[in-house]
Amino acid sequence: AYQMELYGQFNPPRYPTDPTQWEALARRSVPSPNFMYVYGSATTGQTYRANLKAFESRKIVPRMLVDARVKSTEVEILGKKYSSPLICAPVGVQSIMNPEGEEATAKACANLGIPFILSTASTRSIEQIAEAHGTGSDRWYQLYWPRTDEIAVSLLNRAWKSGYTTLVVTLDTFQLGYRPGDLDNCYLPFIWGEGCQIGFTDPVFNRLYSEGKYNDPNKPGSIFDLLGRASNPLQACKLLYNALTIKKSLAWCSEISGPIYRTWSDLPRLKQHWPGKILLKGIQSVDDAKQAARMDGVIDGIIVSNHGGRQVDGAIASLDALEMIMADETVKNSHLTVLFDSGVRTGSDVIKAMALGAKGVLIGRPMMWGLAMGGEPGVEHVFKCLRADLEINMALAGIKNLSEVKADVLSHEHLAK
Ligand code: FNR
Repeated sequence: AYQMELYGQFNPPRYPTDPTQWEALARRSVPSPNFMYVYGSATTGQTYRANLKAFESRKIVPRMLVDARVKSTEVEILGKKYSSPLICAPVGVQSIMNPEGEEATAKACANLGIPFILSTASTRSIEQIAEAHGTGSDRWYQLYWPRTDEIAVSLLNRAWKSGYTTLVVTLDTFQLGYRPGDLDNCYLPFIWGEGCQIGFTDPVFNRLYSEGKYNDPNKPGSIFDLLGRASNPLQACKLLYNALTIKKSLAWCSEISGPIYRTWSDLPRLKQHWPGKILLKGIQSVDDAKQAARMDGVIDGIIVSNHGGRQVDGAIASLDALEMIMADETVKNSHLTVLFDSGVRTGSDVIKAMALGAKGVLIGRPMMWGLAMGGEPGVEHVFKCLRADLEINMALAGIKNLSEVKADVLSHEHLAK
């Protein structure tokens, strides 16, 4: 009755509102190997935990008697206004969480005006997602930069033609991290197979595949080269070697491990084929951020990220990396737009990342828990909760304008540790 009085008709929420419950519910909703792939992180999980701890160790200092009736979560990212700084991170193989896969996530983002980033490891094609996402919705394309330029150009052309406006080039995943959760269950080849749709729908890749480009055991990047690195899933691949899709997905995986061969001097070549903005994802060092800052006209921004702790075990917490990068004068005064991800779980986390200099934050796993809980409405629920949590914490802490939030809203207690 009290609830009714306060809120009118009381409808219990369809899904839990406690962020820690989303993970628990997702764990119960999908087969264990699927859950483990999304949940998992590198080796001992210490970077994954460091990401979360970095948020916990920073504290907001609430201010009182601030007229916070009118507050704004509005931000400007790459010259465009958004109602909140939340961005949907590029996450591959989404159909392992829900058969609707990336389509459900893209639609949820379109409903809420949240930018959607399609992964190169998507289980839907570039064009299918553009169709489902609709005109007028904001979509970006994440590139796992292929080794073969002709394939890279094909992907970029397809994405640009399909209305993706910003290119996110992920640099930290030219091979998968050492993830025991996946290595132990031999399930990776299937997951890779799921995530190859963009490759499989690419005409240039298909042509090169049928011409036998990947069959030469002496060529780096051939399937033989990839199989050569022994591990349980690769053993499984060997067993399944004759299955065409496994052969082909290995070929595609070897294609998209391109950055291992690349350096900063290759980036202008990408720019020649992409008329929109370009962001580099996976930046963790001040020197790399400075290097990006020197590339005005080619690189428009960076995403400070350690891939949710899934790549280098023992790597610096992403929030610590952000703080160090934003303390650098070259970066701070540069043209770069700095976005952030890895470890954002609550509205307060968003405030903290913004206070340390991020202009927007990408949400990874929580969004996937939403997808596992309930497809499109599940993803919408997660984003709505995060937005509500953000707005309520802003009001209670006396923060009127999120885009102007500075490090002085945080206690400096953590610096003493
Ligand atoms: C990812 N991430 C990712 N990044 C990317 O650039 N391309 C991709 O295909 C994927 N795929 C992917 C799959 C899964 C299952 C996860 C969990 C993550 C990384 C993602 O974009 C983001 O950096 C992290 O998820 C952020 O960390 P949190 O929010 O998960 O802690």
